[in-house]
Amino acid sequence: MKFFIDTANLAQIKEAQDLGVLDGVTTNPSLMAKEGISGEENIINHYKAICKIVDGDVSAEVISTDYEGIIKEGEALAKLDDKIVVKVPMIKDGIKALKYFSSKGIKTNCTLVFSAGQALLAAKAGATYVSPFIGRLDDISTDGLSLIEDIRLIYDNYGFETQILAASVRNSIHILGCAKLGADVMTGPLSAILALLKHPLTDSGLAQFLADHAKAAGK
Ligand code: E4P
Repeated sequence: MKFFIDTANLAQIKEAQDLGVLDGVTTNPSLMAKEGISGEENIINHYKAICKIVDGDVSAEVISTDYEGIIKEGEALAKLDDKIVVKVPMIKDGIKALKYFSSKGIKTNCTLVFSAGQALLAAKAGATYVSPFIGRLDDISTDGLSLIEDIRLIYDNYGFETQILAASVRNSIHILGCAKLGADVMTGPLSAILALLKHPLTDSGLAQFLADHAKAAGK
């Protein structure tokens, strides 16, 4: 399973990249705003900065919601760097745009997916990635992970090549659930990735090993 980090924070992207387990980055307009990035030029420069740090795909989301606007924005974003994946919302004009980008060899990520039907449409339109938002489904007391299971089943039934990018991942339990269900990619915060490191028996075991080593060395 590929690990993407879901942030526009350059320090966190660098930290994840330095860890050696990062396969890509996803951003969205809210995450860009959180970092105080606004204005066309700043946004473009920020995507370029992210692409310089990370070795892998970088999702950059369009703001337009009409077909012509999505195409214009997406083509401009795709020209910035080979790593850019054009993130397109799950709306009617978005589906048409996914089909167009796919015919032009431009990588896409269909975002804001909350049902298996939406994921089926995204795959039919040739999306490179589909982003089911599992955390937001959990937030409304539904089971986000069961959506990953349904999409995996449907895609495998027909051999769709669209990769399931489990999004809105909030914690390490989500990451493990996605891994068990065969999601191709997960995107989440650095904290969820780092939480995979943690086990109290690892900490106490290491403390004991070091103490025994020191004792044997007469320290
Ligand atoms: C997906 O690409 C989105 O950026 C993201 O995963 C949304 O997550 P959130 O629900 O934590 O905002």
